[in-house]
Amino acid sequence: MACVVLSLLTILPVVMGDTTGYLGDSVTLSSGANISWGLSKIEWSIFKNVTWIATYQKSTESLRTDRFWQFKSRLKLNFSSGDLEIRDVRKEDSLVYSVLLQDSAGEQHNKKFQLTVTERLSKPNVHKVFSMLRESHCVMALQCSSSEKDTHLSWEPVAAFNDPFWRGNPNTNVSVVWTSYSPNRDANFTCTASNGRSKASRVVTERCQEEQPKPDVVGETRIPGIAFGMLLLGFLFGCVLTYIYFKKSEGFK
Ligand SMILES: *[C@@H]1O[C@H](CO)[C@@H](O)[C@H](O)[C@H]1NC(C)=O
Ligand SMILES: *[C@@H]1O[C@H](CO)[C@@H](O)[C@H](O)[C@H]1NC(C)=O
Ligand SMILES: *[C@@H]1O[C@H](CO)[C@@H](O)[C@H](O)[C@H]1NC(C)=O
Ligand SMILES: *[C@@H]1O[C@H](CO)[C@@H](O)[C@H](O)[C@H]1NC(C)=O
Ligand SMILES: *[C@@H]1O[C@H](CO)[C@@H](O)[C@H](O)[C@H]1NC(C)=O
Repeated sequence: MACVVLSLLTILPVVMGDTTGYLGDSVTLSSGANISWGLSKIEWSIFKNVTWIATYQKSTESLRTDRFWQFKSRLKLNFSSGDLEIRDVRKEDSLVYSVLLQDSAGEQHNKKFQLTVTERLSKPNVHKVFSMLRESHCVMALQCSSSEKDTHLSWEPVAAFNDPFWRGNPNTNVSVVWTSYSPNRDANFTCTASNGRSKASRVVTERCQEEQPKPDVVGETRIPGIAFGMLLLGFLFGCVLTYIYFKKSEGFK
């Protein structure tokens, strides 16, 4: 009995997790419970005075997510994992969340989260400054820009790009990349906008086609053309001859 009481009193050290949520999106606070624990109690709370927002009690089979007005119809509690999903995240949801879990052995686990709600950064804009073929090399410049303030932009080639490229000054709201690459293949670059809290990327694919030396295709089409012309001419000539022949024989009648 003493053993049970002791284990009930055991509360593991509090771990603080940082989670970022984006305005209007859903965010899931992961309780960190192991499915094998078989949770008998879950209590998600906010504030110093431990205001419950979502709770689960296995013994009474009660699952409640309507405990606090601020989260009305926006919470989903998974009673097997203990994870709490907050839908349609708002600015005022930026709070410290606590979860108290009790496993089937009566052991309690505690975890805290700092949820930071931020606006999702929109994708940067990419604009082709120029692209041309010079001495069997594609020369190109791409410009990336963001209309959002305090945004840092950076260019990266997409995996295994072995051709040279030069990047303009990063950490500005406009960034340019120049490259000289071999033609007839894709050059893929990613521009990433970042504001320290959120990131958004745009991938661009460019390709320049080397002028193919004019193959013999023209000759091939011309030969049957000539043959056809000659055939037509021969046919007409035959017709004319036949006509003349019959005309003549008619005249002899
Ligand atoms: C859950 O617990 C089992 C048994 O205690 C362990 O083998 C497993 O690795 C744990 N899983 C996770 C994700 O921690
Ligand atoms: C806990 O504190 C919050 C604000 O700090 C308050 O709105 C709420 O009513 C308090 N709850 C209780 C049960 O005292
Ligand atoms: C609850 O979480 C577990 C483990 O992450 C998952 O397998 C299960 O589908 C979830 N249940 C619901 C209703 O989302
Ligand atoms: C970049 O920032 C400068 C000033 O810092 C501003 O004048 C300019 O309009 C910005 N460019 C874009 C594309 O937002
Ligand atoms: C470049 O992007 C295009 C289109 O997204 C893709 O089909 C191609 O496989 C990419 N090439 C490389 C080398 O990443």
